[in-house]
Amino acid sequence: MGQKFHFVCQNCGNTIDGFEEWFGNMQSCPKCGGKHVHTVYSTPKEKLAELVAPGQKPESLWHYFDFLPLNRRENIISDGEGVAPIRRWKFLERYARERYGLNLIVYVNRNDYSPATGTFKDKGGTVAASVLKEHGIKEYVVASTGNTANAFAQYLAKAGISASIFVPQDSLRENFVHIGALGQKVFIVKGDYAYAKKLAAEYARKNGILISIGNLDPLRLEAKKTSAFEMVRQLGNMPDVYIQAISGGTSPLALEKAFHDFGDTGLLGRIPRMIFIQGDKCDPQVQAWNKAKRMGFPEGWEKDYPVIENPITLVPTLATGNPVLYPLLAKLVKRTGGEFFSVKEELAVDMARLAAYEVAVKIGPASAVGLLGYFEALKNNAIRDGETVFINIGEGVRRAVSFVEEVSYTTEQVTDLDDCHRFDRNKYHDFVWKPFLNY
Ligand SMILES: Cc1ncc(COP(=O)(O)O)c(C=O)c1O
Ligand SMILES: [Zn+2]
Repeated sequence: MGQKFHFVCQNCGNTIDGFEEWFGNMQSCPKCGGKHVHTVYSTPKEKLAELVAPGQKPESLWHYFDFLPLNRRENIISDGEGVAPIRRWKFLERYARERYGLNLIVYVNRNDYSPATGTFKDKGGTVAASVLKEHGIKEYVVASTGNTANAFAQYLAKAGISASIFVPQDSLRENFVHIGALGQKVFIVKGDYAYAKKLAAEYARKNGILISIGNLDPLRLEAKKTSAFEMVRQLGNMPDVYIQAISGGTSPLALEKAFHDFGDTGLLGRIPRMIFIQGDKCDPQVQAWNKAKRMGFPEGWEKDYPVIENPITLVPTLATGNPVLYPLLAKLVKRTGGEFFSVKEELAVDMARLAAYEVAVKIGPASAVGLLGYFEALKNNAIRDGETVFINIGEGVRRAVSFVEEVSYTTEQVTDLDDCHRFDRNKYHDFVWKPFLNY
């Protein structure tokens, strides 16, 4: 074909030439109307070996330009995203050793470091803004619970593209106010995330504007698949276990796409066991999985999932009550021998305290849910001795002031010197560990 990439419809196998045709057909397959396409590149796959080789110092995920759906580098809108460091958190290893006698290596992906908006959603933001710029698009619609909203609003602003963002009313106020501050449009929708997505889609259709089409949008999938490359580049090997708090499930499906593309090259190794975590106040996927397990995975089990309308949750960022991609995620979990676990949202504050105490890293509520998943997985014997675990924490606390206030525990009002007692942070050790000793 001579061109860098094309799409293949996952429903009917039709080939779509590129974004001109894809956007021109309102982001659906011209033949069958399908919305799930795979991006296929003409770049020889072996090129990836060079990109993930030791000694590379990428400035952003555009290091992987050859495997991203953009034609000209001059259209890149970037802020150094997508190459967040992966760190070993020894306190998590110590816990596994002392409590369960397991020797593990535990890595955490520090997406809180992402320069633009402090979440792993910056990856989708940079790819979307760059591609839209390349195609002269001036207006875009997004529905999001908050972090994607911010990332897209910011990158599109940088590209001079108007973003109309639909967020459900329970989104964290501190999160969505930033969108308005950037001069992008935010519609706070009276309803849940499912309804915000519906309204956004209707608005886009009515006005003929392109929209981020959810968790299978090639812009998001292609951006996030680079996480797999970064794991190999930074760790040298794919971990045995991958843990993440999921909402719609873009990140794991993107990881699967990376293995789909490069599995045969041996460059990525084996796909990890996928362990997905949801907060207990909105966990339809966990409920569905547990039911399927109980029933012995009967025919069509993956299509059977509950829909939670207007979920009331402490972590609205993760509140996808209608998990339309559960069938794909569940099959991925089954295929890799993984699990779905639910964790108590009330423990998010305790989790954030412990991480801050042990490694001086402030994590946001959605990241706390993912980290709690590690404790839950250990409790349920889902991690085996000698394994390497990778926890994909997605956010820091840049826009979560109230959450940090809840996490904070040493503040004291004083009037004179007698009130000011000497401080020793070690005395808080037992306090921050207490919720986890009997986890
Ligand atoms: C911090 C954070 N963690 C996890 C998730 C879930 O991401 P995914 O789209 O992969 O389900 C989100 C998405 O909203 C998020 O913002
Ligand atoms: Zn098709």
